[in-house]
Amino acid sequence: MTVSIRTKLFMILSGLMLFFALLSLALTHIGLEKFYIWQKKDILITSSTALDDLYRGNPDEIALELERVANTLGAGIMIFTKENDIKYNSFIPISKQKLNDHFPPHPPSIIKNTEVINNQTVLEMEQDQNLKIDFMVLKHQMNNEDILFIRQPLAPISESATVAAQFIILTGMLSILAGCLWAFFFAKRFTLPLLELNRIAQSMSQLNFTQKCTMNHSDEFGELGKSINHLSDQLDNAISELNQKNKKLIADVEKERKLDKMRRDFVSSVSHELKTPLSLILGYAEGLKENIAHDENSKNYYCSVIIDEAEKMDKLVKDLLNLSQIESGFYQLNKSDFDLSLLLNDITLKYLAILAEKGITLEIDKETCLVNGDILRIEQVLLNLFNNAIDHAELTKTVKISMENLEDRIRVFVYNSGQQIPSESLDKIWTSFYKVDKARTREQVRYGLGLSIVRAIQELHGYPYGVDNTDDGVIFWFDLGRANDEQTF
Ligand SMILES: Nc1ncnc2c1ncn2[C@@H]1O[C@H](COP(=O)(O)OP(=O)(O)OP(=O)(O)O)[C@@H](O)[C@H]1O
Ligand SMILES: [Mg+2]
Repeated sequence: MTVSIRTKLFMILSGLMLFFALLSLALTHIGLEKFYIWQKKDILITSSTALDDLYRGNPDEIALELERVANTLGAGIMIFTKENDIKYNSFIPISKQKLNDHFPPHPPSIIKNTEVINNQTVLEMEQDQNLKIDFMVLKHQMNNEDILFIRQPLAPISESATVAAQFIILTGMLSILAGCLWAFFFAKRFTLPLLELNRIAQSMSQLNFTQKCTMNHSDEFGELGKSINHLSDQLDNAISELNQKNKKLIADVEKERKLDKMRRDFVSSVSHELKTPLSLILGYAEGLKENIAHDENSKNYYCSVIIDEAEKMDKLVKDLLNLSQIESGFYQLNKSDFDLSLLLNDITLKYLAILAEKGITLEIDKETCLVNGDILRIEQVLLNLFNNAIDHAELTKTVKISMENLEDRIRVFVYNSGQQIPSESLDKIWTSFYKVDKARTREQVRYGLGLSIVRAIQELHGYPYGVDNTDDGVIFWFDLGRANDEQTF
């Protein structure tokens, strides 16, 4: 079971107060009466010396002083001659006192204790046998050899001591009560900053650094609060930094993993693409060697297959080299201003026969369009998109090439009527060796590298590219920079 600091502090403070109250009570009980008596003794001695100083042998001369001392002390005073004759007795009015009254009637007393103060003064503790009361009696021999007798009852002293003790008990109890109340509130006030600091430390342990210590103490608690705030800020920064680095690390690992997978996919795709033409070439070359083809026609056929397959391999290797060159990061674009419409003209001229053979209608913007870029690479982009459009032109068999003026660029569109590209493939077609319809590509020598080359060239130029499905076909687009100096045309 944990006991809170507040409770401990309260208990310690209350305990301390109780201890000191009890201590002072015990001391009162033991010492108060003795102290009282000691004080009275002192007063009796002083009074007797004072009276002795005034006394010249006739009590009448100092009657007033004698009465004053008797009344203040509550004591009886007598003066005797050496012969024990009473000269003065405070118990009887002075007028009735007769000189030569003989003393006793001395009260029959038992002397309990005698203390010699000096050679003139003796102090005795006596018990009156008749009254059964204790007295403190001071006997002082005056300068004229008369004897001064001051008799002080002890009862009022112990009574006063008891009253004082009772009063001390009462005030002690009240003080303890007030002290406990004070200790309660003090302990609460004292532990408040601790609780606050504890709350902040706990939220820090949950990695919550938004809680800050707001108390404004000018003591060690204030200092501790500032230190905790500082610690919290430092931890917050360190942990966010660590988190960021961790995220980056995870992203790097993920990227590395993807790159590794891409590399493996790439190698397996290349091997796969090379496997078929190589085995065909091998088969037909062996056939020729074994003289399987007897006539000239068969031999020619064997040779044309070998050449065909070798050409396919040649295309693949060229495309791969091209792509790796552009993607190497060291490839330098040879940029210049040129008229895109002229380039398009050149390209379409070469394709007229194929377009006619396939029954494809070509629509093309003939307007002058001045652009800037690496003309050979842009031609490659156009050829790849144009080839794809021709390959996939169906339905109305239309291929359309158009341009659009954007704010700071030219956008070129290559459209063909036909089947749309499935939406899940729209992103993937830009990766090497990806083909949507794998079955149709064998006889057309398609490796799925054309659009990868388009992507790499566009990225090198720093311009966007993309593809959208239209209602009746597919439209590819890519952006080009405007010619820097249009005046030259
Ligand atoms: N105009 C288009 N219409 C429909 N699908 C297309 C079109 N152009 C490209 N595709 C799809 O995108 C895939 C990737 O095209 P890409 O040009 O990269 O490769 P490819 O044409 O198959 O082969 P390569 O261009 O290397 O000879 C194609 O296999 C085809 O499935
Ligand atoms: Mg292609």
